[in-house]
Amino acid sequence: MLRRIVKSIVCILVAFGASAAGAQYPEKVITMIVPFAAGGPSDTIARILAQTMSASLKQQIIIENVGGAGGTIGAARAAKSDPDGYTLFVHHIGHSTAPALYSKLTYDPIADFEPIGIINDGASTFVSRNDLVFKDFKEFLEYVKTNKDKVNMANAGVGSSSHLCDLLFQEALQTKVTLIPYKGTGPAMNDMLGGTVDIMCDQSTNTTPHIKGGKIKVYAVTLTKRLGSMPDVPTADEAGLPGFSMSTWHALYAPKGTPKPVIETLVKALQTALKDANLMQRYADLGAEAVPQERATPEALAAHLKSEIDRWGPIIKKAGVTVN
Ligand code: MLT
Repeated sequence: MLRRIVKSIVCILVAFGASAAGAQYPEKVITMIVPFAAGGPSDTIARILAQTMSASLKQQIIIENVGGAGGTIGAARAAKSDPDGYTLFVHHIGHSTAPALYSKLTYDPIADFEPIGIINDGASTFVSRNDLVFKDFKEFLEYVKTNKDKVNMANAGVGSSSHLCDLLFQEALQTKVTLIPYKGTGPAMNDMLGGTVDIMCDQSTNTTPHIKGGKIKVYAVTLTKRLGSMPDVPTADEAGLPGFSMSTWHALYAPKGTPKPVIETLVKALQTALKDANLMQRYADLGAEAVPQERATPEALAAHLKSEIDRWGPIIKKAGVTVN
C-alpha cells in the first residue's frame, strides 16, 4: 500500500514535470526491459522493435535482459520502475498467465502497468536436437510417449510461452516428460545445439535460423495455419494433435502512472514501427507477424490482456501447476 502511495506522489510530480517537458520527450536514452535472457525469441522481437522505434523517436533504446522465473522477475522490475517514460517493458502471453501460475506474484499485470499496444502474433515450433530424427510429427509423438522417462524438454521457466506449450503438449499427449527450466530459450537452444536438450516447443523467432541452418529438426508448428516462412511444416493440429493451438503474442507496456502525453508519443512510435517494411519483413522471415494498427493501441492491449488472463486461469488451475 505504501509503495502505491509513494508511487502516486511520484506520478503527480512526474506528470507536472512531463507535461512541461512532454513536448521534448524523449530527452534521454530509453531502457526496454525484456524478461528473458539475451538471444531468445522475446529478445529478438524486442531488439528489432527497439531499433525501429528509436528511429522515429530519434532517441536510443537499450535492451535490459532481466530473466528468470518465467518472466516474472523482469516484470516485477518493470512494475517498480519510475513512471517517466524512460523504462518500457516487452512481454508475451506470459504476462497473462503469471497470475494463475504464481500465487505470490509481487505485481499486478494490469494495475501496475500502462498498456501501449500489442506488437506481434507468433507461432511456436516443436523441435528436436539434430540426432533425434523422426520421419514425421506422429513418429515424434510416439517416441516421446514410449521414452517419457528418458526424454527432456527445455523451457524458459514456469510462465514462459515454452512452458505453457509444454503443459498443453503433455495434456494433449497424456504423457509427462522431464521439463528443464532456463532463464530463456536462448540458453536452452545452446544446449539443444550441444546435444543435451532433446526437444522443445520454442518460438519460431528463435528456432527458424537453426532449422534453416540444418542444426535442429522441426516437426510441427503450434498455430492452426502453416507459417509462410516454413510452408512444408505441418501444424500440430493436422499432424497428430487434433485441436492443438497456441499463439505467442508480445506487447509493449510502461509502468503505471507514466504521463498520458508520453504514452501517446510511444503509441505513435509503436504504430509507425509496426508499419515499417524492414521490421515487417524481419518478423515475417522469423514466423512472427506484426499486428495491424488497430491492435497496436492501449485499448486493444488492455482488452486482450484481460481476456487472456480470464482464458488461461482455468486451464492452468486444471493443470495444477501453480507455483507458491
Ligand atoms: C518463452 O519461452 O517464454 C520465450 O521463448 C523465452 C525467451 O524469449 O527466451
